[in-house]
Amino acid sequence: MSLTDLPEWRALFVDPDSTSAAAAHLRDLFADDPGRAARMTNEVGDLRVDWSKQRLTEPAVGALLQLARARGVEERRNAMFLGEAINVTEGRSVLHVALRSDPSDVYVVEGRNVVPDVHDVLGRIGVFARRVRSGEWTGATGKPIAAVVNIGIGGSDLGPAMAYRALRESATEQFQCRFVSNVDGADIHRNLADLDPATTLFVVSSKTFTTIETLTNARTARAWLTATLGGEAVAKHFVAVSTNATKVAEFGIDTDNMFGFWDWVGGRYSVDSAIGLSLALAIGPKRFAEFLGGFRIVDRHFREAPLAQNVPVLLALVGIWNQHVLGANTLAVLPYAQELARFPAYLQQLDMESNGKYVGVDGGRVDHTTGPIVWGEPGTNGQHAFYQLIHQGTWLVPCDFIGFARPNHQYQEHHDLLVANLFAQAEALAFGKTRDEVVADGVADHQVDHRVFLGNRPSTMILADQLTPSVLGQLVALYEHKVFVQGVIWGINSYDQWGVELGKVLANRISPELTATDDERVNEIGTSNLAAHDSSTTALIEWYRNRRG
Ligand code: F6P
Repeated sequence: MSLTDLPEWRALFVDPDSTSAAAAHLRDLFADDPGRAARMTNEVGDLRVDWSKQRLTEPAVGALLQLARARGVEERRNAMFLGEAINVTEGRSVLHVALRSDPSDVYVVEGRNVVPDVHDVLGRIGVFARRVRSGEWTGATGKPIAAVVNIGIGGSDLGPAMAYRALRESATEQFQCRFVSNVDGADIHRNLADLDPATTLFVVSSKTFTTIETLTNARTARAWLTATLGGEAVAKHFVAVSTNATKVAEFGIDTDNMFGFWDWVGGRYSVDSAIGLSLALAIGPKRFAEFLGGFRIVDRHFREAPLAQNVPVLLALVGIWNQHVLGANTLAVLPYAQELARFPAYLQQLDMESNGKYVGVDGGRVDHTTGPIVWGEPGTNGQHAFYQLIHQGTWLVPCDFIGFARPNHQYQEHHDLLVANLFAQAEALAFGKTRDEVVADGVADHQVDHRVFLGNRPSTMILADQLTPSVLGQLVALYEHKVFVQGVIWGINSYDQWGVELGKVLANRISPELTATDDERVNEIGTSNLAAHDSSTTALIEWYRNRRG
């Protein structure tokens, strides 16, 4: 039965318990119930998740849990952990949970326990990281490595780049990590400008090893290196992370220097695979293991906790409620931690590439909205930019706030101010400021309406003691499983990404048209060799041809 035909779905819109929750104001919900915050705060691992400022009541949560059951969330979750091919459009298992398994765990793909393979690669990563970090692995001229440049894009960039930025305070300053992703040459140009080829190690990260951006950047990096050190140097300065050994060898990287993973790992779920190699190099294998351990804590919770106490499930249901009942098609992720500056971008791929689908697993078009538009910036910067719209705009923008009790720096005064702002924003959004309160402040009449805050704007507050490798792993796993649950409820496959293909195909078609000579554009019988485009695209191509350097 389709989602919108289910009685459990319809109940969300007609059941008095649900409609009264949707109509209530957070001011009243809190005033009427002093125990609300305590009951609507859950813990998982080191994370304290307070969702009491969501516009929900317990009966409404009960209705959402019924919906989750009716959509088979528990069965689909179990199927994922059992290695069933839940990525139905590509016929693949979805087992990123195996990447952070304990050696004693068993995760089976097509009859084979993949855990030993995972730990074999982790062991190789550990050995390699120790050799590079200790200086035992040297560049071609015998100098130790001082800079690691990860070349990858999408899941082969955002995960390690986000995590490196989050955890680099706990890394030794032995070498710096850089991340080159964009095919825009400005990216690699800027990143290589001050590096010494003799002390630079490139990690070419690509699941498929066919991604045009990554291969273009990798070729440019190879030319940069060999111009100084010669072709023989590639073996000491290039390693690869991929599932595609053939393509890695074709590129010229020794497959002994390749770290593998598997087709049951989606790119956006791969930061805990060998794709995390540059992170492991930066923070060391011990901390990388702690990072994986954090994921494992949340995996166990997600697998074992009853739905009503299952934090990823609850967050998924909060999102379903906000989107469908309250009509909010967006989620702002607002970390009050500068180290998490790339976390919203990372979640954009995780969520939007997973759940931005209009076709259901049954092949039919869904008749409801799916994944929200995810975005965000660290606080307090965002407060001085876009929070105006969140507080007083006409859109409802649910927010996920993230914060920590202890900073990874010594400036306590800054941290106290940061946390005061974090808590204040959630309070202001929920409770606002009434007209009476504004008038009581003595505000001039003509300003009164402008200075009223309606409040009732929902948010979740995710806190932990400190941003550590384990806590970061817990945060990522929390969102991974939330996205999974929402995909199940929406009846879509969260693990393919056909939506990125068309643009790639058209770019490949347009690319030669930009650079072809006039002769090449006309074939032997005098007609155009160029693909037919609409008048706008044709004019754009002509514009560029006439102006390119
Ligand atoms: O653009 C889509 C995508 O396939 C992502 O899903 C993926 O993370 C990224 O490209 C990079 O792919 P690869 O790791 O194969 O280079």
